[in-house]
Amino acid sequence: MSTATERREQLKEVFREASGCVRCPLSETRTTVVFGAGNADADLMFVGEAPGANEDRTGLPFVGQAGRLLEQLLGEIGLVREEVFIANVLKCRPPGNRDPRPSEIETCRGYLHRQLELIQPRVICTLGNFSTKLLRGDPTGISRVHGQPEVRVIGPRAVRLFPIYHPSAALYTRSMLDTLRADFARLPELLALEPPPQPAAVEPIPAVAPEPLVEEPADLLEEAAEDAARNGETEAPVASEDQLGLF
Ligand code: URA
Repeated sequence: MSTATERREQLKEVFREASGCVRCPLSETRTTVVFGAGNADADLMFVGEAPGANEDRTGLPFVGQAGRLLEQLLGEIGLVREEVFIANVLKCRPPGNRDPRPSEIETCRGYLHRQLELIQPRVICTLGNFSTKLLRGDPTGISRVHGQPEVRVIGPRAVRLFPIYHPSAALYTRSMLDTLRADFARLPELLALEPPPQPAAVEPIPAVAPEPLVEEPADLLEEAAEDAARNGETEAPVASEDQLGLF
């Protein structure tokens, strides 16, 4: 069992690895890898589809109109984005915002799974079809499963999955927004539930007691940039600290 501090350090490693990823052709057309951002020890994690133009430019997820709606809905349940972790199925923007291709989803899947394993959220909120189908491991569309929480084993952990509509779908359709808002309103009750029973542990018991968590959860991306600067890397893995600077 690792501490939150250890998990955050490992997540930073994954961030550095993803930042230079050339595993698929999207690396040739992207500007910036959009790893995800937020609290590395979040109870609630959102998984969207793929970066759009704003995200590709800034390196941060959900910074356009859909992101503003996401922030507003979070505010309505008393949360701010600094408290949650926001990621996507794909870490690079598909050209022209086309749908992610199965081969891209497959190639990128490892990053998302490592994020889930290290952040260990209690609730994963999938936004729209792509993340819902991927994490449920089932082709059923979002309109049939939204608002229905379920426990799924993803990698080594059991987690509460809560599929909801993608905020971009709700931007221009009133009824969709009402549905999204009603689903969102159930999040506090899901977060308050006991964590689901975990499958039998596979990790060995550590030889020494893990150090207590003394640090506050900090901005993962900011720390990674600071590390890069300390190590004399003039080319930080993301473009600049300004571009990290949501929180
Ligand atoms: N839509 C997504 O699915 N993800 C983003 O980061 C932005 C818009």
